[in-house]
Amino acid sequence: MKVCIVGASGKLGRYMVQHALDRGYEVVGVCREKSVGKLEEFKGRITIIKGATDDREVIEKAVAGCDGVLTVLVPWGVHNYSSGTAQAVLDYAPPGARLVFSCGWHISRDGKDVYPRKLKLIVGVLGPIARLFRVADIGDQVEACRRVFASDAQWTVVRGSDLKEGESQGLPVWSRHVGDPILRSNMTHRIDFALFMVESLENDELVQEAPAIVGCLTPSALEHAETVGE
Ligand SMILES: NC(=O)c1ccc[n+]([C@@H]2O[C@H](COP(=O)([O-])OP(=O)(O)OC[C@H]3O[C@@H](n4cnc5c(N)ncnc54)[C@H](OP(=O)(O)O)[C@@H]3O)[C@@H](O)[C@H]2O)c1
Repeated sequence: MKVCIVGASGKLGRYMVQHALDRGYEVVGVCREKSVGKLEEFKGRITIIKGATDDREVIEKAVAGCDGVLTVLVPWGVHNYSSGTAQAVLDYAPPGARLVFSCGWHISRDGKDVYPRKLKLIVGVLGPIARLFRVADIGDQVEACRRVFASDAQWTVVRGSDLKEGESQGLPVWSRHVGDPILRSNMTHRIDFALFMVESLENDELVQEAPAIVGCLTPSALEHAETVGE
């Protein structure tokens, strides 16, 4: 299995590189030139393609021959970075490749998510402020995901809860809609978000799904497991 990790030098990206290497996958990582040093620990074990993740030539080269592409979608800046990245991956990934994208709970596939007040505040108040100061554009991350949802590709959009650092607790659990009781705890260790992304590559049940995830040892996940007798 050859996989490309777009946004490999970020926190989520580096965890995904490690999980992919642990599985014996061949890894190609894309990251900004100034961030190559953040991948030093993987030197000699992965191929690095330097450049902006929305640079279509960079992505075309990076995804060539890949069976899977893991893409970190981030809303930074106001120049359509997220949608440009998603579009390039959709356009250049080999037909049939598994495409897995990361985002947050704020992305809704069908409008049926019920959001916690804190998240509504962040998106509704901080989102416009970030856009005003040209720091980030959450709307562009929404647009990126809209394009993925509309595509016929073998995609999965993994929607992360609030994140924290810490040791792995195991594969997160998921549900189709934020607001479902299993997700109430709203916390996942970042290393396990990455695990879910990498595991999705070989999970056909997640094709054309937008799972919202939460840590498998959080109170809400454990309560749910008890209820269904797992
Ligand atoms: N943070 C949260 O609480 C949270 C919650 C839910 C979901 N998520 C999702 O999780 C994923 C990873 O997020 P994260 O917060 O953990 O961050 P992260 O893994 O550290 O990733 C940040 C990415 O953004 C890139 N980046 C940073 N500044 C940039 C800029 N100005 N222009 C272009 N690229 C820039 C970084 O590249 P460099 O290495 O080159 O800097 C890196 O690839 C995202 O899809 C996010 O939507 C995050």
